Amino acid sequence: MAESNGSIDHDEKIEDLAARMTLDEKITLLAAKNIWETPEIQRVGIPSLKVTDGPNGARGGNFFDGTTAACFPSCVSLAATFNRDLSRQIGKALGQEAITKGAYVLLGPTVCCHRSPLGGRNFEAFSEDPHLSGILATEYVKGLQEERVAATVKHYLANEQDTRRFTVNQTISERALREIYLRPFEMVAKDADPWCFMSSYPKINGMHVDAQSKFLIDILRNEWGYKGLVMSDWGATTTVESIKHGLDLEMPGPARFRNPEAVIKALKDGSISESDIDDRIGNIIRLLKNVGKFDDRRATPTEQAIDRPEHRALIRKTGGEGIVLLKNEGDILPLDVKKTRKIALLGPLAKYAAAHGGGSASLNCHYKVTPYDAFVDRLGSKVEITHSAGAHIFRVYPDLEAGCLNSLGNPGFLAEFYMTPIPTSAPFRTEEYPRGSFTTLMNTHVIGCQTVRFSTSYTAPTTGSHYLSFSGLGPSKLFINNILIAHQPDPTPDAMGFLLGVQDEIRLQYPFTATHTYDIVIETHPDPLANAELHLLNHQSSIHLGFVTQQEMDRDLLSEAVDLARDADMAIVFVGNTTQWETEGQDLSSMALPASGSQDALIAAVADVNPKTVVVNTTGVPVLTPWIEDVSAFMQAWYAGQESGNAILDIITGEMCPSGKLPVSWPRRYEDTGCFGHFGLDSKESGKVEYVEGVGVGYRWFDQFYGDEKEVRWAFGYGLSYARFVVSGASMEGGIGGGEEDGMVRVGAVVKNVGKRKGMETVQVYMKPPNVAGLDRPVKELVGFAKVEVSSGEEKPVEFEFGREGLSYWDEELGRWKVLQGKYEVLVATSSRPEDVHATLTLEVGEDVVYGP
Ligand code: BGC
Repeated sequence: MAESNGSIDHDEKIEDLAARMTLDEKITLLAAKNIWETPEIQRVGIPSLKVTDGPNGARGGNFFDGTTAACFPSCVSLAATFNRDLSRQIGKALGQEAITKGAYVLLGPTVCCHRSPLGGRNFEAFSEDPHLSGILATEYVKGLQEERVAATVKHYLANEQDTRRFTVNQTISERALREIYLRPFEMVAKDADPWCFMSSYPKINGMHVDAQSKFLIDILRNEWGYKGLVMSDWGATTTVESIKHGLDLEMPGPARFRNPEAVIKALKDGSISESDIDDRIGNIIRLLKNVGKFDDRRATPTEQAIDRPEHRALIRKTGGEGIVLLKNEGDILPLDVKKTRKIALLGPLAKYAAAHGGGSASLNCHYKVTPYDAFVDRLGSKVEITHSAGAHIFRVYPDLEAGCLNSLGNPGFLAEFYMTPIPTSAPFRTEEYPRGSFTTLMNTHVIGCQTVRFSTSYTAPTTGSHYLSFSGLGPSKLFINNILIAHQPDPTPDAMGFLLGVQDEIRLQYPFTATHTYDIVIETHPDPLANAELHLLNHQSSIHLGFVTQQEMDRDLLSEAVDLARDADMAIVFVGNTTQWETEGQDLSSMALPASGSQDALIAAVADVNPKTVVVNTTGVPVLTPWIEDVSAFMQAWYAGQESGNAILDIITGEMCPSGKLPVSWPRRYEDTGCFGHFGLDSKESGKVEYVEGVGVGYRWFDQFYGDEKEVRWAFGYGLSYARFVVSGASMEGGIGGGEEDGMVRVGAVVKNVGKRKGMETVQVYMKPPNVAGLDRPVKELVGFAKVEVSSGEEKPVEFEFGREGLSYWDEELGRWKVLQGKYEVLVATSSRPEDVHATLTLEVGEDVVYGP
């Protein structure tokens, strides 16, 4: 039995097993049996296997309120660490978590590109730079699979936006595909041997990924030598012919395109062959073998919540290392606790732990530490801490929860499920829910139900005309004390948004009296075609009932915050996006912080009264910073996982020296980005988007504007430290060209810490190609990076190595990679800004090198 990179070569046995299967059994295996599990074929001993989301934690089988799980920093936060070891450790820990959820496959990492700062799912993916994404994802996959849990590299390919993600037609040049969008997948496929890939939803140049052989067979398997399984994204199987085009597994189940009749028909009319099916079956069985499913090695498949101290520590360290300090005027940070009497913690995210973004990357964390919790816990005995949220940023109102008792006498709501369109006689099932929302998605007990009655007795906390928001996936009515209060006659216009908690709502006010009890009843009916673009939601029911008291809504939060800021030695304003604003299923509508300028106004007003104002921003993307000149310090904290509050405080106090660097360029204005006007949709009617900027993504675009008004606010690779480093002694040896896989270049440098504290520095090596008339190449491209920890007064060497891939571009005419002869500059830098280049070396390539398919 041969072993390579941890995957087990059981090919012979796979063929034996496949040979014993009937055609019907093989067809059964081509699609999942339910939302998370593949089918078992008992007769031949093929076991079922469970998968789980997602890139920053193993959520388990329930989308909402599931078994608690460790929440790790999002991939963008991990990317900002520029730390390979941490990525490996996070991968490994995720593997351990997946095991506690009975899963053998984790649905991550996401390696798509941050094409636009408006990408709703950017937080889940690493970077705008394919090299950084590819290196870190490779380590993550290796760590995960060391635990014998399969990684699923997603979403292959070009899922850079969520606007109309199921159907959008994206025009992308072959060169941009090769150099930017395919590149991280290629690196991971070649270097980490991942056991799964996930195919994406959108169309690329007119066709879905699974409707052609180009991506799944020609490139992935034939060019890159990939041996693993490809599953579709949930609902991304678009044709039965995907069996021929290399898509192994339709997800989720039961089969839609691969039902027995459809597959048999396709076999009969010759659009697929039995050998196509055998290829797919082989990959499915190989996955089962790779993860040890045939060895029956795990004790119990039930989900468990195991909160490990070593995971807590890893999450806190990684979250802290990912925080990027972008401004620190007059060295206001680290905070000198001894000289501080009072700190005002302000902003809507001061008491919100921004652990993760929204959608399939969200999970029920073991616990979450808010910045406020961390400050009170760790500094509360030394410093006076005050707090105000300072601004409302509701997108939807929070679920009605406190004060609700269901008819069984328990806190929360009761859902009664009926098989009839009118709730007559007794329900066939009842379920309790803790708060004002539920969904039937994934609930196998209520399939076929026609009406759901969702009710509670609510006791109002205060008297007032309180605010309610209401919506249903299908037609729904809201009654209070038997009177119809709100009626949504049609299905929701945005079913996907609904699933992710950002639905269009009916908003109203209702007069409540303190201590009075109100009977609240909602009646909802499933919609057979809830969302033509995602069939998963058809026939499902969901409800959301939100609530905010009039007192809370009318409160002048801004004045409260300003008063506290005026009276404090330091004001720290926590701003950003909640999962309602930044989520899978939709893109952001602008780079401005929500909602309607309330957070920007808060920062400006606080900075006006307190000269020591620090802003901590928690988003997965760069945002507009109109107040930046007026504040003393600014840091980008991303979504740092369940320990986010502690990680932020570690940086503020200096217990951890900041070392994060931007894994994305930070534009001043959205209009300055290369994809401006061509992200989301080219026009509302078109259903299309053209990747007009070609390979000019991120710093590859902004580099050309250095020194003019389009220059970025902060450059890719930039980030401040409390330590100070000098990079010197740059050297280079080796070369490219001359056959035998065409050589390697090795670069070395020395990092000296000339500051007073121990810290970490990331040295980056960029390649600047020669100018060639008629060939549009980026000014420079990242080819290597290394992070070192150096104590005050010490120095440490760093080394880098790159081959021909670092110098080549995709020649569209040849359909191959090409390194042009000529003089290349090799820049040794600490960010992509020209000021941060510490040495420029010259690399001469004697003759053209052409390679590839
Ligand atoms: C997402 C995937 C996710 C899957 C299962 C899809 O909507 O795009 O990333 O793994 O759902 O939740």
